[in-house]
Amino acid sequence: MPQAKPLRSSTTGALSGAIRVPGDKSISHRSLMLGAVAIGETVIHGLLEGEDVLHTAAAMRLLGAQATRDEAGVWHVRGVGLGALAEPAQVLDMGNSGTAARLLIGLVAGHPITCVFTGDASLNKRPMARVTKPLEEMGARFVGRSGGRLPLTVVGSDGLVPVTYRLPVASAQVKSAILLAGLNTAGATTVIEAEPTRDHTELMLRHFGAEVRTERLEDGALAVTVIGQPELTGRTIHVPADPSSAAFPAVAALLRPGSEVLLNDVGMNPRRTGLYDTLVEMGADIAFENRRDQAGEPVADLRVKHGPLKGVVVPADRAPSMIDEYPVLAAAAACAEGDTVMLGLKELRVKESDRLAMVAEGLTRCGVSVQVGADDSLTVHGTGRPPKGGATVATAMDHRIAMSFLVLGMASEEPVSVDDGAFIETSFPGFAGLMNGLGAKIADA
Ligand code: S3P
Repeated sequence: MPQAKPLRSSTTGALSGAIRVPGDKSISHRSLMLGAVAIGETVIHGLLEGEDVLHTAAAMRLLGAQATRDEAGVWHVRGVGLGALAEPAQVLDMGNSGTAARLLIGLVAGHPITCVFTGDASLNKRPMARVTKPLEEMGARFVGRSGGRLPLTVVGSDGLVPVTYRLPVASAQVKSAILLAGLNTAGATTVIEAEPTRDHTELMLRHFGAEVRTERLEDGALAVTVIGQPELTGRTIHVPADPSSAAFPAVAALLRPGSEVLLNDVGMNPRRTGLYDTLVEMGADIAFENRRDQAGEPVADLRVKHGPLKGVVVPADRAPSMIDEYPVLAAAAACAEGDTVMLGLKELRVKESDRLAMVAEGLTRCGVSVQVGADDSLTVHGTGRPPKGGATVATAMDHRIAMSFLVLGMASEEPVSVDDGAFIETSFPGFAGLMNGLGAKIADA
């Protein structure tokens, strides 16, 4: 476990400048995994070199692929071909990353190998039965702790049976685990999702040459089908800047008077942009410039200017498209005028931390009035004035809790400290430096 790194963020003036935040985490994990099971070479530009993704790269090497860094953000993966992942001689340590663990459990489940997965104290608490249950239906076997939690042994097979599985929770990780298990399974494997979750796995599978079909069902749900055992060929991938990371400088700029920042190359996949829709509803001045397509994913440059925000109701069905952005939205809501009501946040309880509890606790410490509903809703009572701040907030090994409260500190009367900023490295290496370059005052506490 990295050493704790307390950080403090103080009130800042106007932010200005143009930056590119690091590459998209979801797309980075997937590019390494699919590159490893493709034939030939995959070149990845803009790979996120955060700890989560580096854990995936290390795991793919233990599974037999070559993954090498040519220069900052540019990686080569030499794949082994689908079905040819090697049994790793060591435990696969996925660190803090639920995405790495769940997707890779699915991918190896369709290979005739045995793998042992572990993670850090945060990851080893998180529910894995949501992936092991459908994969067991396909014929993979698992021995894990209660709730299927890590450390967990996967006994995979190349003779899995295809299933049709309706997701009981809106989770792209669960959907992806099943599709990746279906990849080396003869026949058609289908996942039905009632609510649209991020579709990077589907888009990238097609990019590598797999057949992925989607069909709208009578009840409005979407059936996503992968046809098993395709020939996957190495590709070139351009990873857009992560909209979940861009959220931090975007909200900071909205909150600080006089600010104008340009965030370049931000991924605008509609299944990821719920936060930006919400901020615009709150009155945010965000221009989506130079919209374009980059290797199958929409991107834009975001010009964000300060302006007053007002509270809104965020409907539950928007949650999948902004699931990682509620902590930073809560920071924005704390500075907005009026109540912001966020509905349907149950899934926040099983992220890197119980984000609903951590956000509510941290905001309360900073003098913001909040309520958590029995229905897993969060209401933030904004006053339109800077919160008091002046507190140290617990982060529970959660990068996004740490970054969200550092953003809040930029707009509070008194500095806000976080007990540990070390986990920011999982998703946003260089966060403090990049933010300080725009005008923030984030320093060791
Ligand atoms: C991710 C999906 C989301 C998100 C996570 C990344 C992915 O999790 O919270 O940070 O890359 O598929 P769920 O799909 O489980 O909600």
